[in-house]
Amino acid sequence: MTREIRIPAMVDPHVHLRDLDWAHKATFASETAAALAGGYWVVMDMPNTAPPAINHAAFDHKLTRIGATAVCDWGLYFGASQDDNQTEYPLVAGRACGLKIYNNATTGTLLIADQAARDRHYAAWPAHKIIAVHAEDDTVADILDLVRKHRKPTHFCHISLAHEIDLLTVAKEEGLPVTVGVTPHHLFLTVDDLPTLGAFGLMKPELKTKADQAALWEAIESGVVDVVESDHAPHTLDEKASEKPPYGVPGLETTLPLLLTAVHQNRLTIERVIELLATNAQRIWGLKPDSETYTRVDLDASYIIQRSQLRTACGWSPFEGMQVHGRVREVWIRGQKVFDGETVLVEPGFGQNVAVG
Ligand code: NCD
Ligand code: ZN
Ligand code: ZN
Repeated sequence: MTREIRIPAMVDPHVHLRDLDWAHKATFASETAAALAGGYWVVMDMPNTAPPAINHAAFDHKLTRIGATAVCDWGLYFGASQDDNQTEYPLVAGRACGLKIYNNATTGTLLIADQAARDRHYAAWPAHKIIAVHAEDDTVADILDLVRKHRKPTHFCHISLAHEIDLLTVAKEEGLPVTVGVTPHHLFLTVDDLPTLGAFGLMKPELKTKADQAALWEAIESGVVDVVESDHAPHTLDEKASEKPPYGVPGLETTLPLLLTAVHQNRLTIERVIELLATNAQRIWGLKPDSETYTRVDLDASYIIQRSQLRTACGWSPFEGMQVHGRVREVWIRGQKVFDGETVLVEPGFGQNVAVG
């Protein structure tokens, strides 16, 4: 038996496609092809690139490059920088999908640890585009203070602790304009997997306990979690094998099958998967996909995640060896078949910026 479903216009609002000076890790071409293989219509790329997207020249350069090479649709975040780059905001906001503020240390150089500096960025960014934050642990409360003050829509990326879920549950009850993203690695892996995974289990925020993992699943059930975002963050095998392995794991090609496997196990409904991977992000980022943008998925196809079958340039996955259910058969964008289950059918540059306005 094969049951097929059609998922409308999947969106991953949190990826790191690399390229530019980090093209040795991955490129817009390689990772947007991986996005199509993962079923996605849109990927939204974070600004912690090399060079970082923190002034209009670097942003425009990145925009030109992804515009020329992407095979799926896309958005780009602009980055808040330590040296108060707020005067750049009016120059880029109309073409950016949001502002990203890094409030804890992670890959790249964009860390804003000072609350007064964060406040200046919050005050300056135009309210019609979302602010996405990397905030871990106590920093979540610091950012909530800024949301309470400025009332600007804020997306909390890769939430991983039970305690953070508690804070965000209360914030939502309070009526603050906040949304919550969780990653597949925090949903399907824990610290208990670290001995086996080694550097392949290293990312920010780090893997957490089973109790934290259970809190994320409960928050999916209760509706506190709005989106599952891959936080696709490819690093090469050599880099991961090095003495100081960088933080980050790929996820574009494994997120949908992992969630569909949870459906297979009766831990989730298909309707909830569609909200978490498509319709909620469309609403939060204000996207209006046309009705001829969708992904056809075979729910019953079952396979083992293997690196030889991945398209991401990094060529590995923390989920290797896992048996999953659900395979992408076709992706359609704006009425055109762009992926047939094996091959990307469009030329580099087919992808469009979805965040204009
Ligand atoms: C990300 C990266 O490599 O760019 N790494 C990670 O561990 N998640 C950065 C980030 O999302 O914090
Ligand atoms: Zn982050
Ligand atoms: Zn990230």
